[in-house]
Amino acid sequence: MWTNQARIQRDIEELAKFNATPGQGLTRFSLTAEDRAARGYLRQEMHNCGLRVYEDAAGNLVGRREGEQADAPVVMIGSHFDSVKGGGNFDGPAGVSAALETARVLHERDIKTRFPIEVVAMIEEEGARFSASLYGSRAMAGLIDTAQLQERKDAAGISMYEALRQFGFNPDEIAAARRMPGSVKAFLELHIEQGPILEAEGLEVGIVQEIVGIHDMKIKINGRQGHAGTIPMHLRADALNAAAKMIVRIAELAVEEGEGTVATVGWLSVKPGGFNIIPGEVEFSVDIRSGKRQHVDNVSRRIGEALQEISSSTGVVAELSSLMNVPPVRMAESIVDRQLSICERLGLKHRLMQSGAGHDAMVMAGVAEVGLVFVPSLDGRSHCPEEWTDYAQLQKGVEVYLHTVLELAEAES
Ligand code: GLV
Ligand code: MN
Ligand code: MN
Repeated sequence: MWTNQARIQRDIEELAKFNATPGQGLTRFSLTAEDRAARGYLRQEMHNCGLRVYEDAAGNLVGRREGEQADAPVVMIGSHFDSVKGGGNFDGPAGVSAALETARVLHERDIKTRFPIEVVAMIEEEGARFSASLYGSRAMAGLIDTAQLQERKDAAGISMYEALRQFGFNPDEIAAARRMPGSVKAFLELHIEQGPILEAEGLEVGIVQEIVGIHDMKIKINGRQGHAGTIPMHLRADALNAAAKMIVRIAELAVEEGEGTVATVGWLSVKPGGFNIIPGEVEFSVDIRSGKRQHVDNVSRRIGEALQEISSSTGVVAELSSLMNVPPVRMAESIVDRQLSICERLGLKHRLMQSGAGHDAMVMAGVAEVGLVFVPSLDGRSHCPEEWTDYAQLQKGVEVYLHTVLELAEAES
């Protein structure tokens, strides 16, 4: 193999140190001290293999390697380096390491490519701090403006606009992060599967054909706050009780829609929050996913209808806001075909598959041809501290990734 397992392992282990919750999984939110420390490591690694390092206006970290042809579009490779709260060490960093390792191999073998290559470490893919999932790639696709930066706030009420400014970026220049059509030849990502399929089937590599569509929304329920002992049940407008009915209904709607449609309420806030207070305000998230846009749209519409029914029967007022709605995306057939023949050539056991997780590649599909390589996840676990992929398995995926990049960037042999 051309790649080096020890270097990949080192990337993952070093990045895991930049963690706000040691002992309770990995928490690395965007534009925090941990984010800054991770940038320091990545910047140095990029520098060591001859990349020219810069940060774009959105806060993505990029290392560029020139190609032989002047003004040629770039082959972009990478993944995200932020994490969920209490997550694992591999979701994101595995793909950042794959891109770094690719750049190292090109450097040490002095391989020239026709097209330039940019290694990218994307920020705020998870949306864990600002509820702005896929932010780094959406900025590259020209889908983020300053109004959205002002509007998206973290749990402490700090806007993304303010956080970017405090970190040293200029949020007024966000439009400059946009990659113009034609300027990116391809975007290639490696990621852990985050599900059980590859492991269950004894396979080494997954070649993703399609990423599901995702609709993220927030629902706010305004009830009437009051004393838990004095107000009879029939005179209440209990925001949490209404939210509970709604949450049960959301899961039912996904099941009724079928064909693998999923819907999740993963976050909820109750105000003011007390044993003896009828909740006055509840907010919760909804995440709906399917390989078919129509299923996501149907569930979204039916959630709106159910919200109206439950509001009128419980006396609360509900507001629904849409945070992100990305349709299902197919990977470029030409890249999938290349990846399949590379797996054959390397003798790796592989299959085509769908991704139920969102990835920056799905947004970059609006800008360039995209490809996504999966490696197995132990017990299918992810977004938890137990998330794990054996380094030997990860390396096999990186090898497929490297050879795909060599072909796409047209390496001189
Ligand atoms: C990212 O992990 C997502 O699928 O939401
Ligand atoms: Mn994730
Ligand atoms: Mn991820």
